[in-house]
Amino acid sequence: MGDDLEKILVTEEQIKDRHRDLAAAIDADYAGRDLLLVGVLKGAVMVMADLARELHHPCEMDWMAVSSYGAGTTSSGVVRILKDLDTDIKDRNVLIVEDVIDSGLTLSWLVGNLRSRGPASVEICTMVRKPVAFNVDLDVRYVGFDLPNEFIVGYGLDYAEKYRNLPFIGTLAPHVYQA
Ligand code: IMP
Ligand code: MG
Repeated sequence: MGDDLEKILVTEEQIKDRHRDLAAAIDADYAGRDLLLVGVLKGAVMVMADLARELHHPCEMDWMAVSSYGAGTTSSGVVRILKDLDTDIKDRNVLIVEDVIDSGLTLSWLVGNLRSRGPASVEICTMVRKPVAFNVDLDVRYVGFDLPNEFIVGYGLDYAEKYRNLPFIGTLAPHVYQA
């Protein structure tokens, strides 16, 4: 995969360190309350696995799959549920775990959808936030990294389903898009 990458934006060590900080904050905020982590497939698999293991607070995990992007690098604006939760979230404290917030369209739709199910609370934790996300009215409680507006891959993030298994976050060389 070496030739396909342009630069590394966040290293494996930086991700690990940031998880410890986020987990400590989540532990403190949810002390004495139940916690259900809801990972958004497929991108949030890595964040969920690593963040959950840094938590001391007992929690449950569930998953949703939604589609908002095609194989390309721009949002279609259309959100569809591909896999719904197995859990009834009524009166539960839900923490959505995301890989990246770009336009924020997917998450604002998801938050609205989950709120309509009567949870005690819904908060958001994202590993990466891009600047565009500031334009959307979205209250993001936990942010790993604020990164510039570039298309990124690795640590769960894909381009046409590839590069998810890179342990770091980076950008792709232009020839990959042009191919
Ligand atoms: P949003 O609706 O624009 O906030 O983005 C929704 C989804 O698009 C994210 O959950 C990702 O799956 C995907 N996405 C957005 N930006 C990137 C990126 O830079 N690289 C890879 N996937 C991305
Ligand atoms: Mg995602």
